[in-house]
Amino acid sequence: MTAKKPEELRSHRWFGVKDLRSFGHRSRAKQMGITADDIGGKPVIAIVNTWSDLNPCHAHLRMRAEEVKRGVLQAGGFPVELPAMSLGETFMKPTTMLYRNFLAMEVEELLRSNPVDGAVLLGGCDKTVPAMIMGATSMNLPTIFMPAGPMLRGNWHGKVLGSGSDVWKYWAELRAGTINERDWMEVEDGIARSFGTCMTMGTASTMAAVIEAMGMILPGGSSIPASDSGHSRLAAASGRRIVDLIWQDVKPRDILTAEAFDNGVTTAVALGGSTNSIVHLIAMAGRAGVALDLGRFDEISRKTPLLANIRPSGAFLMEDFFYAGGLPALLARLSGHLHLDCKTVSGRSLGQVISGAQSYNDEVIRTLENPFKPDGGLAILRGNLAPDGAVIKHSAMEPRLLKHSGPAVVFADYNDMAARIDNPGLPVTPDSVLVLKHAGPIGGPGMPEWGQLPIPKKLLAQGVRDMVRISDARMSGTSYGACVLHVAPESFIGGPLALVEDGDLITLDVPGRRIDLDVDPAVLARRRAAWTPPEPHYVRGYGLLHSRSVSQANRGCDYDFLEGSAPVPEPEIH
Ligand code: FES
Repeated sequence: MTAKKPEELRSHRWFGVKDLRSFGHRSRAKQMGITADDIGGKPVIAIVNTWSDLNPCHAHLRMRAEEVKRGVLQAGGFPVELPAMSLGETFMKPTTMLYRNFLAMEVEELLRSNPVDGAVLLGGCDKTVPAMIMGATSMNLPTIFMPAGPMLRGNWHGKVLGSGSDVWKYWAELRAGTINERDWMEVEDGIARSFGTCMTMGTASTMAAVIEAMGMILPGGSSIPASDSGHSRLAAASGRRIVDLIWQDVKPRDILTAEAFDNGVTTAVALGGSTNSIVHLIAMAGRAGVALDLGRFDEISRKTPLLANIRPSGAFLMEDFFYAGGLPALLARLSGHLHLDCKTVSGRSLGQVISGAQSYNDEVIRTLENPFKPDGGLAILRGNLAPDGAVIKHSAMEPRLLKHSGPAVVFADYNDMAARIDNPGLPVTPDSVLVLKHAGPIGGPGMPEWGQLPIPKKLLAQGVRDMVRISDARMSGTSYGACVLHVAPESFIGGPLALVEDGDLITLDVPGRRIDLDVDPAVLARRRAAWTPPEPHYVRGYGLLHSRSVSQANRGCDYDFLEGSAPVPEPEIH
C-alpha cells in the first residue's frame, strides 16, 4: 500500500523542485555519477554506519552496509551511507557512556541536515544501540535498526568462554593463583573468535533484544550471530523493508509507545539483562515523550519470570539462544506479560510476529512452569544512601548477600581503589561493604563500568568470590556480583554516598528494596556541612557540555537540552 506520493518525499525538497538550489543538488549528485534515473522520485535511505577500525564488534558492518544497499535498491529506493561515531566499547576511554549522547546528537542531525527520507541504523556495541535509537526517535523519520549481532562462543581447552563474564572469572582465578599466566594468555586467545558483539547477555545483547521487542528490528534479528549467513539476509531484508516503511510513513514514535517500553522492560528482565538497559530505556523513553521511571522497572521485574538461562545470570550464550529459537521463542513464552497489539517495523503486530514461534531447548529458554528464576533479575533500591534510587541485578549475585549489613571500606575514587584494593593491610573482611565514590555521570566522568569492584586479593585467597559493593558507577552487562549501582544522586555533586566514611554500617535489603547508611543524622549533618565540592574535571570542550547538561542515572543520563519530544524545525533549503 502506497500512502505517500513521490513529491511528498522529504528528499524531493532537495532534488525534485525547480529552483537554483535544486540545480546545485542535482548537479553535485551527477558529480558522483547519480542521475534522476537513480534518485528521482525514490526514497533516499540513510544507512547510518558505526563501522570503525577500532570497533571489533562492528568489523563486518562495511559488508552489511553493502547488503542493506542491495535490499534498498531491490525495493526501489536509493541508499546513501553516512558514517557516524563508532563508540567501540573496548578501546574508548574513559567510557563510551560519555559519548552516548554525542552519537545520539550526531544521528539526529545527520538525518535532519541531509536529503534523506528514512534510515537503517547499523550498530550493536553497547551504547551505539540506545544512542542511535535516541537520535532517530528525536528526528522521527522511518527507521529500522540493523543490529551487529553477537560473536561466536569463546573456547579454551574445550571449555566455553563468555565475553566479559569469563574475563572477570579467570582474572579472579589468576589473582587467587588457581590458574597461571599461560592459562590466562590462552583465555585471551580464545575468548573473541569472530566479529560481532559480546555473546553473553551483556548490554549489547540486552539492548538489541529490547529494541526488537519494542518493534524496531525485523523479527528474530537481534539473536542472529554476526557471522551466520542469516545475518547477511537480515541486512538485505532491512534494506527492502525500510522502503515500504517510508511509503507507509511509519515513524519511530508510532512504534515506541508507552506499551512498547513496557515490552522492552519486560524483555530486559526476562532475559536477566544488563543493568545498563535501565539507564538507556529511560533515556530513549524521554526522546519518545513516554514517562518511564525506575519504579516501573521494579514493578515489572517483580511479576516477570526470568526465562533465559544465559550468562552472566545463567549458563549459556547467545549462540545457544539463537539455536533454541531466539527472541521470538522467548517472547512467545512471555506473551501473557506483553502488549501484543504493539506495532513493529515488519508491518505486523508483536503478537502476529511471535505467534507460533517455537523453542527448541527448554534448558536455554525456560518454560513459565520451570523458569530460571521466578521473578526478573533487576531490583530498584531506595534508602537514605540513594534517595533517588539505585539498582542491583540480584539474579547474578550470591543469595546469602540479599540481606546483609557490614562496615564500609571507602575508596575516594577509582585510582584510590586501584592503589589499595590488594594492599594486605586493607581492613577488609568478607562482611565488609566496599564503597566507591566519584564514579557517576559527572564524577566518573561518564559513569564508567567500575561498579563491579574487584574482590580484595586476600579475600580471594580465602575463597571469597562475592561481597557487597556500592557505587554511583554502572557495571558491564557481562559482570556479576552483589553490586549496588547507579546510586543517585551521585557523590560528586554531594549525594549521600559522598558522606560515607570507613567503618560506617551499611545495610542492604534486596527483598525490602532498601539501601541504608546506619549513621546518626546529626553526624551526617556535620559531615554535610564540612563537605566541599571537588574540582570539576573539565573547564572547556565537550566534557564541559556533558558536565553541565547530563541528568542523573535515575533520569537516564540524557542532556537536558535533548530530552523530550518537542519539534525541531526542518532546515530551510535555500
Ligand atoms: Fe562491543 Fe561488548 S565490547 S558489545
